[in-house]
Amino acid sequence: MEDLMLHGLQDIYYAEQQVTKALPKMIGQATNRDLAQGLKLHLEETNKQIERLDQVFKKLGQKPSGIDCPAIDGLIKESDETAGEVDDKSVLDAAIVANAQAVEHYEIARYGTLIAWAQQLGHDDIVRLLTTNLNEEKAANTKLNAIALRKGVNRKAAS
Ligand SMILES: [Fe+2]
Ligand SMILES: [Fe+2]
Repeated sequence: MEDLMLHGLQDIYYAEQQVTKALPKMIGQATNRDLAQGLKLHLEETNKQIERLDQVFKKLGQKPSGIDCPAIDGLIKESDETAGEVDDKSVLDAAIVANAQAVEHYEIARYGTLIAWAQQLGHDDIVRLLTTNLNEEKAANTKLNAIALRKGVNRKAAS
């Protein structure tokens, strides 16, 4: 199970790096100010998350390394494809929110599992770091919800 957890950490390490590469494009495509701002903030958070993962590997006595994660590659590829097909800027904003939320949900699933495994294996020292990352993903997802609903991105896209 230690190996499985390490594999999971390498998977999310790679995923976070791919996210830092994908977010600038999404920020550039976003028209809604709240959406662009929110994604920018999350890009900064994502860089910090990678640093926290560096610490996690260190605490486990492992060298930080990533392994290909076809799931995140697929999410980003699909995100590029759907965004590329939308001409209407308001509709594009709604698509970007949806694509970003798919990534957040993936990250939430991964961190939730990693925290449970780390607790089970007695790695209490890495639980705190992973929980900070998880909480940031949850907050990012909640903010995207608010942007789509309360801040009117979906309403504008439908009009
Ligand atoms: Fe992340
Ligand atoms: Fe995230």
